Amino acid sequence: MFIFNRLNRVFILLITLAFLTGFNAHNKTKSSSLNTKKTPDLGVQSNLDEINQLNITIFPDGKNLPKGNGSVEEGEVIFKMKCAACHGANGNGGIIKVPLVGGENTLHTKKPIKTVGSYWPYATTLFDYVRRTMPYNAPQTLTNDEVYALCAYLLNKNNIIKHDVVMNKKTLAEVKMPNSQGFINSYLTKRKNSKQKQEIK
Ligand code: HEC
Repeated sequence: MFIFNRLNRVFILLITLAFLTGFNAHNKTKSSSLNTKKTPDLGVQSNLDEINQLNITIFPDGKNLPKGNGSVEEGEVIFKMKCAACHGANGNGGIIKVPLVGGENTLHTKKPIKTVGSYWPYATTLFDYVRRTMPYNAPQTLTNDEVYALCAYLLNKNNIIKHDVVMNKKTLAEVKMPNSQGFINSYLTKRKNSKQKQEIK
């Protein structure tokens, strides 16, 4: 019994030692790999081409607008084919009740109608939105010329540009929207406030 107990204890000691040294070794490799590797080895690095494909943001001032152009008439044809089924024949809301046209002078009323014409502060955003998301069932299938034409059509339907004005990177950025002064820049206000707080300190 005595011998068995001793053997048993030696055995347990050996196992504990093995475990501890193993554990230590494991920890060492782990910490050394942490020191040398800067990434967790997940995924693959994107190349510039892939990044550029996703980087399609158009800025309010027109920065990043691509080459191309489109007329009101061209836009009307595309709108009938690819947009009217949802937004209605003249962009008046259709089955989904999302109007793109109308709503002038309703923003201050009890029933504001927010459309591209009545609400949106920049025409450049229209290009970004349509190219990025529409048609809803097939986003990013429109060519840049088609998007310019659709912008021309919708801006004309909202009485913001004349029928013969062609939209391109220059003319679209120059369009002044009726509600361009209807927004405040909350980031700017926050920055100003925090500056004031710093000055008080
Ligand atoms: C399958 C239906 C469908 C089709 C087709 C479609 N849209 Fe839309 N569209 C929507 C829906 C739904 C919304 C609202 C999305 C939201 O608010 O998240 C929307 C929103 C919009 C808006 C933003 C409206 C606003 O004031 O917020 C614009 C602009 C627009 N669509 C333009 C187009 C154009 C241009 C086409 C044709 C190329 C098109 N849509 C085709 C369903 C559609």
